[in-house]
Amino acid sequence: MNNTAERQREAPTSREIFIEAMARIPGPIAIITTGAGERRKGLTASALCSLSADHPSVIVCVNKTASAYDAIVSEGRFGMNIVGKWQKEIAKIFAQKGIDRFSKGTWYQSRNDVPLLAGAPVALACNLVEVVDGFSHSILIGAVDGVSLEDETSAQSSIVWLNRSFCPVS
Ligand SMILES: Cc1cc2nc3c(=O)[nH]c(=O)nc-3n(C[C@H](O)[C@H](O)[C@H](O)COP(=O)(O)O)c2cc1C
Repeated sequence: MNNTAERQREAPTSREIFIEAMARIPGPIAIITTGAGERRKGLTASALCSLSADHPSVIVCVNKTASAYDAIVSEGRFGMNIVGKWQKEIAKIFAQKGIDRFSKGTWYQSRNDVPLLAGAPVALACNLVEVVDGFSHSILIGAVDGVSLEDETSAQSSIVWLNRSFCPVS
């Protein structure tokens, strides 16, 4: 087997190399929310994906030290607001400290009482069904209770997180 060149390119894993590798993988961006009124909490997340269509469910990985973590687990529900190009500034706010994260954008409560962002290309209202340990993070499994889809134009406004910046898809 002649794979010497490939093996030479492979570096042993370190935290830094892993972070650099993950930065090169494009991913969706969502604002994860929970609570109502003064109890609202949220964070920007990109470690998320669909889990199953039978039963409709999603996964998001949240750092256990995030200010919204305990609230998401104790409320037992969360909103997954996919960020399009018009919501970039709001996504930045939800990753910043010392700021009222709900000060920008129009927020409404879903049927299961989680904050959803008006105008998001896709907004999912989820009930937390399982919390799986993932080292520094927990893998939160959400059963999707409600789906809000914007029109086609908004769907085409999708952006991804790649090389530490927001990038248009097309
Ligand atoms: C584009 C982007 C993606 C992120 N993805 C995640 C994620 O998937 N999970 C996570 O726990 N934090 C993620 N973060 C970090 C959190 O948004 C941020 O650290 C957190 O809200 C700040 O912590 P605090 O709420 O304790 O202030 C991401 C940040 C950015 C800017």
